[in-house]
Amino acid sequence: MADLDQNTVTDAVIAQMASTSDPRLREVMESLVRHLHGFAREVKLTPGEWLAAIAFLTRVGQACTPIRQEFILLSDTLGLSRLVNLMDDSANRVGDATETSLLGPFYREASPRYGYGESIAAHAKGPEMVLFGRVLNEAGEGVPNAVVEVWQTDADGAYDLQTNDPAVMDMRGQFRTDAEGRYAIRTLVPLGYSIPMDGPVGELVRRQGRHGVRPAHIHMLIGAEGYRELVTALYLGDDAHIDSDTVFGVSESLVVQPQTGLEASPVPELPSVRYDFRIARRAPHDTSARVGADPSKVAAE
Ligand SMILES: [Fe+2]
Repeated sequence: MADLDQNTVTDAVIAQMASTSDPRLREVMESLVRHLHGFAREVKLTPGEWLAAIAFLTRVGQACTPIRQEFILLSDTLGLSRLVNLMDDSANRVGDATETSLLGPFYREASPRYGYGESIAAHAKGPEMVLFGRVLNEAGEGVPNAVVEVWQTDADGAYDLQTNDPAVMDMRGQFRTDAEGRYAIRTLVPLGYSIPMDGPVGELVRRQGRHGVRPAHIHMLIGAEGYRELVTALYLGDDAHIDSDTVFGVSESLVVQPQTGLEASPVPELPSVRYDFRIARRAPHDTSARVGADPSKVAAE
């Protein structure tokens, strides 16, 4: 047997994994080991640092619950979620479909269903605004019966999952477009918010001297039969953190500014945003575009 040194150990691990029958698993794990070992050599990782990393990841796992996903938050703050999103977009986004954004850790399945123009503020109070427009296909035609899911913070910058009774859904809902692809949502003006800073990810962000704040935004997930699911968000342009999002989710085309007196608004006296979303036909091989999930579907039972 050959004695291993700090370089040959990498090849020895890869050689032992060569029996992996799933070719994609083999490719991913080979690359992971090469980069992980290369990283450890580059920073000359010490035993103490190795243990600190193990302890950190252990705390990240322990902070996860059915209503909190600390690993998604870690991925988001490291820019990994945005990177996966950008790569998926360049591989699959067709034509001039609306740009995507992060699903984030606060999406929940089975949110309440609302009718055209109804408010998603079931309990929360605060200044109101309206979001309306159409869901269009690549030809610019309205897509009828598209499901428009929306979720956001209340006017204090908190999601329902972070409030006292997370069993109650608030500030989220599902709408269906009408025959012309129109949707209208009455809501509260969202507030920018700090990512959860009371866990290991917050601790790291603080040690890095980062503010940990996301600019105010409204999450959207739009789906229709035969179309590629669109995961995106609209960002309020006057937010002080619009250029320094902690999770790197903002694109210029997704920045909006509510205006009062907008004639086409279903409630013109309220600050309103008109935004037409463009969705693309789904390619046969296309899989989910969601970089994220309902935390309850990720957590171990
Ligand atoms: Fe968010």
